[in-house]
Amino acid sequence: MQDAPDISLKFDTLSGLCQNAAEDILRQQNLLVVSHVDADGLTASAIICTALERLNKDYKPLFFRQLDGSALDEVADLGADLVIFTDLGSGMIQEICDRDLQAVVADHHKPTACQARPLAHINPHLVGADGATELSGSGTSFLLARALASVSGSNDDLAALAVVGAVGDLQDMASGRLQGLNRRILEIGSVAGVVSFSRDIKLFGRQTRPVYKMLEYSQDPYLPGLSGKEDACIAFLKDLGIRLGGEKWRRWIDLSQEEKSCMVTAILRKGLRSGVSNIKLERLIGEVYVLLKEQEGTEPRDASEYSTLLNATARYGHADIGLRVCMGDREKAFDEAHTLLGQHRQNLVNGLKFVSQTGITPLKNIQYFDAGDAILDTIVGIVAGMSFQMADRSMPILAFARTQEGDLKVSARGTHDLVRSGLDLADALSRSAKAVGGVGGGHNVAAGATIPAHAKLEFLELMDNVVGEQLSRQNLSGT
Ligand code: C5P
Ligand code: ZN
Repeated sequence: MQDAPDISLKFDTLSGLCQNAAEDILRQQNLLVVSHVDADGLTASAIICTALERLNKDYKPLFFRQLDGSALDEVADLGADLVIFTDLGSGMIQEICDRDLQAVVADHHKPTACQARPLAHINPHLVGADGATELSGSGTSFLLARALASVSGSNDDLAALAVVGAVGDLQDMASGRLQGLNRRILEIGSVAGVVSFSRDIKLFGRQTRPVYKMLEYSQDPYLPGLSGKEDACIAFLKDLGIRLGGEKWRRWIDLSQEEKSCMVTAILRKGLRSGVSNIKLERLIGEVYVLLKEQEGTEPRDASEYSTLLNATARYGHADIGLRVCMGDREKAFDEAHTLLGQHRQNLVNGLKFVSQTGITPLKNIQYFDAGDAILDTIVGIVAGMSFQMADRSMPILAFARTQEGDLKVSARGTHDLVRSGLDLADALSRSAKAVGGVGGGHNVAAGATIPAHAKLEFLELMDNVVGEQLSRQNLSGT
């Protein structure tokens, strides 16, 4: 709690910037909302689109996998009065201004240095907060939506979507709970009665999966003797005297408090017995977020399940479906999202299988795998993150996949321990990609790039060196 005044100052400074941006937005009628194709980008867009709808403004949502020059040309051609960029834009401020766009940028990616200034640039990095762990793109957009509220507090319900976006960007992973400015947003959502938080098991599927399936599909943390083994999971629960189901399979939310504690204790005991040290209490147990206005037993009730549902839409070119779900559709778009979710899950399982079969190649300071066409470039980052269960956690992991255009998509993921040791993947990727004629950026712990296909080896060498420098610099300054 020591840093609370500091957080208040950052919160107030960003809110002040939002106030100015809101005045610019309120003066215009024909608005474009440009966002990113992941859970954070979708929720960011939905927050702003809902705020504009409540103001009876005309708006058009638009999504990009990456905001590059040609995406900006497309945006410029639409001739909107004003463009609101959410969950992207901070790396392209110069290019946005070069096109004379009237723009408000509400992002959390590491900004690149430039002279140009849009109408407003709202980004946690500009007030000394970390955009990887303290505020997401949807969180930044939520602050803007608050400033756009016609009656003070009337957009506070949108905090629930900001929590989903932050969880989708894994911002709670650094300390097992949302922190910094995210925590402020969580508190606002809690006061508004739309979200609650508590400590619970962190396995995926608490709302929707039968308990034995929740165990079987657990990837992070990986549970030796249980993950991937249906029969073992069923036997494990039976041994504990936990009933699997009657008419319907029992889910985690159906278990009594006593059954839940008994299960957690048994999982930990089993993990320790298998000698796996990475099943640490903090990875299995942590804060979880419940969206109180959503129906129990459905994905949107749980922030983590909701974010996966959204990724299953936008990352496959169906951002429109995800956006409609975020804006309240629980019928047609929700059903469509569900169908996509089944395919997404299968793709992730296949992706992990590919990595375990082909292996991960270690270099001096990084490790990598090349999925070629076997994993879609839009989900290769998720697979890279999940692959840490079978990789060396002492170096970052890079994943390559071929894009539709024939370029190479690179996704890089680190651990928060590595970030504390000096790792900054956004910096490493943007520098190395630029050196080989590509573009890259993102966050210290997770970043991405697109590079020419022939440049893979050169890029790997650059990355290996930059990461080596980052980690040794910190070691030097730490001694
Ligand atoms: O695509 P991937 O999931 O690997 O991206 C990781 C992070 O890096 C995301 O937050 C994404 O927005 C960001 N990124 C970026 N510039 C790129 C590629 C990815 O800022 N060229
Ligand atoms: Zn984001």
